[in-house]
Amino acid sequence: MGKVSELYHQYVAQGRIGADAAQQAILPQLDRVIAELAALPPPAKPRSGWRGLFGGGQAGPVTGARGLYLWGGVGRGKSMLMDLLAACSPVPTRRVHFHEFMQEIQMRLEAARKRGDQDIVRPVALEVAAQVRLLCFDEMQITDIADAMIVGRLFQVLFEQGVTVVTTSNRAPEDLYKNGLNRQLFLPFIALIGERLEVVCLDSATDHRQGRDPGGQVWFVPADAVAHAALDAIWNDLTGGALPERGEIRMNSRSFALDALSGRVGRAEFWALCGQPLGAADYLELARRVDALLMDGVPRLGMSNYNEAKRFVTLIDALYEARVRLFASAADEPEQLYNEGEGSFEFERTASRLREMQDAAWGNKG
Ligand SMILES: Nc1ncnc2c1ncn2[C@@H]1O[C@H](COP(=O)(O)OP(=O)(O)OP(=O)(O)O)[C@@H](O)[C@H]1O
Ligand SMILES: [Mg+2]
Repeated sequence: MGKVSELYHQYVAQGRIGADAAQQAILPQLDRVIAELAALPPPAKPRSGWRGLFGGGQAGPVTGARGLYLWGGVGRGKSMLMDLLAACSPVPTRRVHFHEFMQEIQMRLEAARKRGDQDIVRPVALEVAAQVRLLCFDEMQITDIADAMIVGRLFQVLFEQGVTVVTTSNRAPEDLYKNGLNRQLFLPFIALIGERLEVVCLDSATDHRQGRDPGGQVWFVPADAVAHAALDAIWNDLTGGALPERGEIRMNSRSFALDALSGRVGRAEFWALCGQPLGAADYLELARRVDALLMDGVPRLGMSNYNEAKRFVTLIDALYEARVRLFASAADEPEQLYNEGEGSFEFERTASRLREMQDAAWGNKG
């Protein structure tokens, strides 16, 4: 616990990070959230006995601190700052990747639906609110209609329950779910964000993922026979020469196959992973299951293979979050893979991450 700014300056003094003026400029906002959280009254204990039963023991309205919506370009340090904030939090806190959180919510909603609840989102939101006072969402991005519909109601109940929300995003709130289907239904959520969260732009000039110490080669261009052989050699090295036998990634009621799986090392063609209808849940499971992934034949991406490209973005987010090591053969360098058309904005984050994942210090989960 303590101030975020103190922790930040401690990290700078220890040489763990460099001083970044734009990051420092928003530290007072992070300190403010912590101070407000520290000043909140302790949560009222649920009353037992008849007063609780008949609602006579209802506490007054609960309020949280005013949260943050931290947005800006890739690699600027939003997630890092949010992690510092979470580390300083004086209240029960959960830091979670937005994709993963929505996955969990979808599962809980399924249970509520089976119970036949009327307002299915409310009980699920109450369950979440009962466990935490501060929710830190990394990378809020709304790409499908199902999430867009749920998230507004969910946040409404979380705020009503006094949960403080801090979130990072690459987009300004008004650009969330941009051009999405039935976007007008999503607008009240954008208004709610503006009302309940302080919107802060991290306007740094530096993508901290660039210019790092490159480790051994992990990204092979072009995806030819030489690259294939290089990945074969990496496979042998990582698995101790295991036979490349097919392996299943299983989850709940479904599964998908990798061309090869040995221990916690997997290998698959780009098309096997991104050319079939797999989604965030599948990639999160894959990321949990392997420490290293070898991927053959990442093509140039764009409008002609838009769906595959979108899946690739989701896959890299999942691998990055779980710190999986990625070795790939590809048509070009990350920054040149997806240069124009819809989706190239989202791809900037992917390219920035692929760079960081080439870093010598990029390790697996250890
Ligand atoms: N001031 C800094 N000095 C050195 N490294 C930093 C600094 N700020 C952030 N980093 C590092 O740069 C990398 C990118 O930072 P971070 O993941 O927080 O960026 P981000 O803004 O969340 O990017 P994205 O939009 O892609 O999620 C991380 O490894 C982080 O630890
Ligand atoms: Mg981030």
